[in-house]
Amino acid sequence: MAENVILERRGRIALATINRPEKLNALNIQTRAELVDCFNELRDDADIRVVVITGAGGKAFVAGADINEFAGRTAIEQRSVMRAKSIFTAAEDFPKPLIAMINGFCLGGGCELALACDIRIASERSRFGQPEINLGIIPGGGGTQRLTRLVGEGKAMQMILSGAMIDAAEAYRIGLVNDVYPAEELEAKTMELASLIAEKSPVALAMAKTAVKNAARMNLREGLDAEIDLFALCFSSEDKEEGVRAFLEKRKPDFKGR
Ligand code: COA
Repeated sequence: MAENVILERRGRIALATINRPEKLNALNIQTRAELVDCFNELRDDADIRVVVITGAGGKAFVAGADINEFAGRTAIEQRSVMRAKSIFTAAEDFPKPLIAMINGFCLGGGCELALACDIRIASERSRFGQPEINLGIIPGGGGTQRLTRLVGEGKAMQMILSGAMIDAAEAYRIGLVNDVYPAEELEAKTMELASLIAEKSPVALAMAKTAVKNAARMNLREGLDAEIDLFALCFSSEDKEEGVRAFLEKRKPDFKGR
């Protein structure tokens, strides 16, 4: 039974809530393991097409790795923790769209988790940062790579070297988050976007996610070639026939994920 991650199914959308509000949803080993289990469970669930990740309590998305677990931990132990249960790689490799619904502090590993998601929607009261430097360490969940790719080297350097937080407006300005809404609208607006995406072909969504992720993994020529292959692969799906037929028949498509 998961304790720290609450999984709720709302039609085609799954809502995974990190639930340690008394610790601002800090990611301890158990929470990381539960998140990875959650990804594993949802990966093969044909009914779920989009996953939204959020934090409980209204004060934080995730305030980072659980700092209590750092005390006394050796380099070998830390490397093993990061590699064995990498929620960041699990999120990046997850074949369905992942939306981070950010409702407060989004720091350290929390910011890195949001960065590993595909889309970030934040409330106006969210705050973002990579404060690891204040502890004498650096980001280890992809922050130096994904943040840099998303906002550019200058802004990434500033956040990582200073450890200072930025507010939601600044996060929006530098492209760290896709949209910002008043806190009371955050869930409705995020679910609206999730519902729009959930109507699409799951086959095409998976292809699109892989093709876009390739942009950071491949050079332009390789990425363009891979895009053609993924595009062509869509033509083997029933969903492509349904999508084209529905357009020609002037009706909404009913995608089955086949
Ligand atoms: N790890 C472990 N516990 C954490 C935590 C973390 N990353 N972030 C917050 N908590 C705990 C606090 O220790 C506190 O627990 P306590 O009530 O048992 O003392 C509780 O969550 C509430 O946090 P608190 O610091 O009292 O709230 P605040 O509103 O005064 O400050 C923050 C909020 C986010 C500014 C502050 O908690 C903070 O700086 N957290 C650490 C952020 C960080 O460095 N993350 C990167 C880790 S690599």
